[in-house]
Amino acid sequence: MSFRLEIISNMLNLKTLTKLRNCHKKSILVRVDFNEPLIITEPNIVKLGDDSRIQNSLPTIYYLLKQQAKIILISHCGEPGGQIDPHLSLQPQALRLGILLKRKVLPFETKIGNKNIKYWLLSKNSKPSNLNNHNLESLLPGDIVLLENLRFYPEEEKCDLKFAKQLSKHADIYVNEAFSVSHRKHASVVGVPKYLPSYAGLNLFNEIRILNRLTQPKTGKPFTLILGGAKITDKILIIKHLINKVNHVLLGGIMANTFMAARGIDIGESKIDAQNLKPAKDILKKHSSKIIFPNDVLISNRQENRTIKVGDSIPPKWIISDVGKDTFQSYATILKQSKTIVWNGPLGILENKFTKIGTINLTKLLAKLSMSPKIFVALGGGETIEAIRNIKKSQIDYISTGGGAMLNFLAGKKLPGIQALQNTTQQN
Ligand code: 3PG
Repeated sequence: MSFRLEIISNMLNLKTLTKLRNCHKKSILVRVDFNEPLIITEPNIVKLGDDSRIQNSLPTIYYLLKQQAKIILISHCGEPGGQIDPHLSLQPQALRLGILLKRKVLPFETKIGNKNIKYWLLSKNSKPSNLNNHNLESLLPGDIVLLENLRFYPEEEKCDLKFAKQLSKHADIYVNEAFSVSHRKHASVVGVPKYLPSYAGLNLFNEIRILNRLTQPKTGKPFTLILGGAKITDKILIIKHLINKVNHVLLGGIMANTFMAARGIDIGESKIDAQNLKPAKDILKKHSSKIIFPNDVLISNRQENRTIKVGDSIPPKWIISDVGKDTFQSYATILKQSKTIVWNGPLGILENKFTKIGTINLTKLLAKLSMSPKIFVALGGGETIEAIRNIKKSQIDYISTGGGAMLNFLAGKKLPGIQALQNTTQQN
């Protein structure tokens, strides 16, 4: 780790994985987030829609492999509600990891406390010697296992410390490589670090480093936030937390509708978050010059789409479905002059090709602006990542793996998973 990164990790009070040396023969429990989008092709065939989060965990896996550690990966997938749901098994992720690491994937079962938990072994040897009675204690240096979806067990989301302790018994060290789930107070995120020396994974550290930089006063100015989509409460908190550091907040989606309604503009039957009208009004009262919403919008009635000026009346059964061309142009002018851009949430409805044009154009523009060394573009969130499918991810300066976690971090909230790592740093 460079001297500069070392200073940052000290400043953030995080013990990063690069400080972990000599883990030859040690078992390392690595909390990853393999909660990837899934596609169900036939009743029982589940495929991965994307593997970015698996890819993002590879540097940490390679780092540990180089040190001949025994790696036990743990993750969740979806929201099975504490029950076994075969559609949310981590088997597709195990198979993908096997392909990426060029390893054979073998299924086994083990006991964590009194629970039977399935796991997949990605063995260094194509035929492990102890195939018949394999267990987590018989791992060899360089072996990798992935345990089945932890959310099949109610203890995970209840943050049951007994369960966390049982998980920790199989390892010597814990690594959190799941920034995107660090806003959850779950057993594998905040429980396990109570029982094991704990480290920040390489990608997690990078995420915190970049997001932290974005919230500092010295962030490159002009600083423009683009907030679209839903999850209005979280995004209002972000505005409140960052308003003194940003120059512009460009709005789209339900976020824009809610602010337009708060300003008294006719938005017809378009969706808003009524609970947040008052907070939106308060923000507009104090910071109206920074909050920018569309001046023209696309409206749709399921069969047709047409563009109107904002303020023109919207007929019954028509709703705002995207930003208009003029709006996009004026947003583009602001973005081209910005030095820092952070984007979360689409500008229009993504399910329809006519109503996602604003979001697609924004994606292309941000990919172009990312090429400039003077402009830093960061984005995150499930829907936002879905929206950038038409460009190569490497075209954007920084894409957070986290949706809720990124929103919470930018809103200034403490993430329990990060706090858990910081607490163990203090103890060691
Ligand atoms: C995410 O996709 O944001 C993380 O995997 C967390 O998932 P969750 O919202 O189901 O906790």
